[in-house]
Amino acid sequence: MDYIKINKQAWDKRTTVHVDSTFYDVDAFKKGKTSLNLLELEQVGNVKGKKLLHLQCHFGQDTLSWAREGATVTGVDLSSQAIEQAEQLKQSLGLKAEFIAKDIYQFGRENTDSFDVVFTSYGVLCWLPDLTDWAKTIASALKQGGEFHLVEFHSFNDLIDGYSYFPQAEPDVEKEGTYTENCDGEKSTTVTWAHSLSEVINALIQAGLNIEYFKEYAYSPYNCIEGMEYVSGQGYQMLHKGQQIPLLYSIKASKPTRK
Ligand SMILES: C[S@@+](CC[C@H](N)C(=O)[O-])C[C@H]1O[C@@H](n2cnc3c(N)ncnc32)[C@H](O)[C@@H]1O
Repeated sequence: MDYIKINKQAWDKRTTVHVDSTFYDVDAFKKGKTSLNLLELEQVGNVKGKKLLHLQCHFGQDTLSWAREGATVTGVDLSSQAIEQAEQLKQSLGLKAEFIAKDIYQFGRENTDSFDVVFTSYGVLCWLPDLTDWAKTIASALKQGGEFHLVEFHSFNDLIDGYSYFPQAEPDVEKEGTYTENCDGEKSTTVTWAHSLSEVINALIQAGLNIEYFKEYAYSPYNCIEGMEYVSGQGYQMLHKGQQIPLLYSIKASKPTRK
């Protein structure tokens, strides 16, 4: 099964829907609103003058938001449609960025550049079959002392949605709609993989990165599970038997400096 081809088709189709959605609110972004949430802005911190690689950058709003924060940015995404949209956004706003339409594993094999920061967020890992190679791609793209920042939907949510929490031999192959409000029942085939938290953390450790911290959050900026409720000043939460479930997690890891 050519999962790259299948997922690329799905994301090309989704991109066209996403750029017109209120979820992504391109108009507000064009007027100067950042697409980044406080969580990742605080986690990554000051990026002025830093070289930042954004993996799975979709149509580039977060990448360009990091550019607005002062970083020199490179965004990589499988979807050529998403990268085309990112280029258009960049040009219309007169921002600087390099966008690369490529599978991240292929990018990892070919990349010779090195970065101060590698960033990736919200809905990225399920599209990747192999976290060992993913983590190697990150480690080899980082300068010594460079930082990796991940903010991801908590794997516990997979369980709530009826998927496996633990990695499986075979991926989930489904016909799915997308997550923006304007998707109109349009579906495309997707191929996704379950990744437990220990799998993510161990892949980064085995790639030689130092885990600086791992955090879990009960609130999410995104209303993406049925039954979520908004708590003023916090974001969306989800209760199970009256208790909050974990919705997001974040990891900061660094590449050791050679002695
Ligand atoms: C949920 S989106 C990323 C979310 C991002 N935070 C956003 O909302 O802008 C997932 C992205 O991963 C990309 N993707 C999926 N598989 C990939 C692969 N093998 N290599 C590179 N990008 C991939 C998709 O094209 C899509 O743009």
